Amino acid sequence: MRQPLVAGNWKMHGDQAMGRVLGETIRLEAESLQHTEVVLCPPFVYLPMLAELLAGSRTGLGAQSVSEHESGAWTGEVSAVMLADVGCRHVIVGHSERRQFYGESDALVAAKFLAAQTHGLRPILCLGERLEERQAGQTEAVIARQLDAVLEYAGDAAFTDAVIAYEPVWAIGTGQSASPQQAQEVHAFIRARLPEAIAATIRLLYGGSVKPGNAAALFAMADIDGGLIGGASLKADDFITICRYAEKSAE
Ligand code: PGA
Repeated sequence: MRQPLVAGNWKMHGDQAMGRVLGETIRLEAESLQHTEVVLCPPFVYLPMLAELLAGSRTGLGAQSVSEHESGAWTGEVSAVMLADVGCRHVIVGHSERRQFYGESDALVAAKFLAAQTHGLRPILCLGERLEERQAGQTEAVIARQLDAVLEYAGDAAFTDAVIAYEPVWAIGTGQSASPQQAQEVHAFIRARLPEAIAATIRLLYGGSVKPGNAAALFAMADIDGGLIGGASLKADDFITICRYAEKSAE
């Protein structure tokens, strides 16, 4: 049985006051979960505040991106070593907003994945096709390309403690989630493409307009082990409700 994981991607939302209240509320509610791992990914500048607030709790901390470099003259970047230093254990890599709006290529995503993994962070690798790619029947080809780039660069062993999130670009922030069947098909494809030693145990999250109203049906699918939650992670009630559905799926 794979332990469900629900991660909240706050993106570039909120301020200190909001982050504190949201973090505190979720930390308290998450204490009653027994099976589900919960991770919050606030903006970089709020990581130390959240690290302090979540210390000793069962809610983990993650960043939304990471540099592929260890250190040096890379203005504006944040390294994996720094993230680990302030208490992060997880980091999202290859989110479609990074790929689409910041030009992150498959090769760059692979380098970031390896940098994270090398320094003891758990990468949450995002894969997903755009609407026109799905319509053209290219979903599996796109996912395979994105996944193979990381497998070839980082090697199979780097995936041992990693997490993969399937996030169809057309479902992110649009309110139009993939159906449980659509998501399950791609999750099964991803699992089948992974080396055998990893496939059975790696957690595959679904992301893209997960809400309290669709979480239970998504998490009931055989190859969906939790969610990467954007918009709904900014509302404590919604996020906790989603975590509880993940918990139920493991009971
Ligand atoms: P959404 O975002 O839940 O707002 O669709 C998901 C994500 O971008 O990770």
